[in-house]
Amino acid sequence: MSAPDRPDWSETGFPHIWLPYAQMKTAPPPAAAVRTEGAHIHLADGRVLVDGVSSWWTACHGYNHPHIRAAITRQLECMPHVMLGGLVHEPALTLARRLSDLLPGDLGHVFFSESGSVSVEIALKMALQFWINQGVRGRSEFVAFDYAYHGDTIGAMSVCDPEEGMHALFAGVLPAQQIVPLPVDDAGFEAFEGVLRAGRDRIAAVILEPLVQAAGGMKFHSADVLRRIAEACRAHDILLILDEIATGFGRTGSLFACEQAGICPDIVTLSKALTGGTLPLAATVAGDRVYDGFLADDFGHALMHGPTFTGNPLGCAAANASLDLFESEPRLAQVAAIEVQLLSELAPCRGLARVADVRCKGAIGVVQLDRVPDLDGLRRRFLEAGVWVRPFGDVIYLMPPFVIAPDDLSTLTAAVCTVVSEWSAGA
Ligand SMILES: Cc1ncc(COP(=O)(O)O)c(C=O)c1O
Repeated sequence: MSAPDRPDWSETGFPHIWLPYAQMKTAPPPAAAVRTEGAHIHLADGRVLVDGVSSWWTACHGYNHPHIRAAITRQLECMPHVMLGGLVHEPALTLARRLSDLLPGDLGHVFFSESGSVSVEIALKMALQFWINQGVRGRSEFVAFDYAYHGDTIGAMSVCDPEEGMHALFAGVLPAQQIVPLPVDDAGFEAFEGVLRAGRDRIAAVILEPLVQAAGGMKFHSADVLRRIAEACRAHDILLILDEIATGFGRTGSLFACEQAGICPDIVTLSKALTGGTLPLAATVAGDRVYDGFLADDFGHALMHGPTFTGNPLGCAAANASLDLFESEPRLAQVAAIEVQLLSELAPCRGLARVADVRCKGAIGVVQLDRVPDLDGLRRRFLEAGVWVRPFGDVIYLMPPFVIAPDDLSTLTAAVCTVVSEWSAGA
């Protein structure tokens, strides 16, 4: 050990790693994590942090859940991986069936990949090819919304809000799509319908994160707005892709956010909490209409896509175990209790100067500031307070594991209230 808080592997490895969303010239050396358990992250220097991020919103059952760990271990011993091309295996087929049973309507055709961004690429490609396969030419555009975030690959970036989605640098380079305001009232819907009407022959699909636009600013919209968007897409015969990568698996209070609007999209994307935060896995799930559009005697109508690790058995075993836990443990009740606690314990931030908004939905608590703060400074303060909280943009948010104990959640909310009031007094 070169320093108590910087083990040797960190000192020697750090110059060689290129970290996500980091300016490597100025990024402070990250904290070294050595163990995770439940809602806690153990650091190399002995500190134990209460986790308010669930590792980018994945660890819904907390870390190291024994049921998921056992399922992965069993699968590891018999078949960690086998290609899905020409072969099938039980974990992938069981998971495909279970997801089809859980998702609304006829969403019953599951295509696996290994990251959220790739599942979005596949959804976009499915929508494009769906129209081509029907002999319809020119439907090659997508409509997405201000504050949208759908991932970091080229196609996914093109349907992000260019500013809030962190991809402004690539303006003019990415495929041009229509990024429009999210309609929230009659005037907004009139404008939105106008976009769909005018673009009916060019638009392949509308893509939206249902109820919560997460990484683009933690913006919420109502189930009614979501329902009206779905109706508008149907009225204009435009496909609807719902990106449930962040919202899926309970985060907004129902297993899938779209359930709250009573709607069923043509395509849905899933990832993050799919494996309970243990292994990388994603799914793009199509309804009958889209799937049937690929069925033909002509092989050329097939979906020509096949990530090397598609349907990885370890990931699928983990996801099946995660679904077991949604059946056997009271996850949605835990989310409802978290929402109540977040609402009451973040309320004191509401009155503070320079706080623009405080909002909660399911297991998501958001304090929005009236400007972008010194993020590194705030992140340091949270570490000093013994919590793992990573503000971005003008937003401080909590998305804890659903199993978090009420007193741990209080530790998180107290840290947010303290750090925000310090910032608000000094801003
Ligand atoms: C709604 C949404 N879509 C897509 C993605 C991209 O997923 P991944 O980071 O696994 O590529 C994210 C990641 O935050 C997301 O929140």
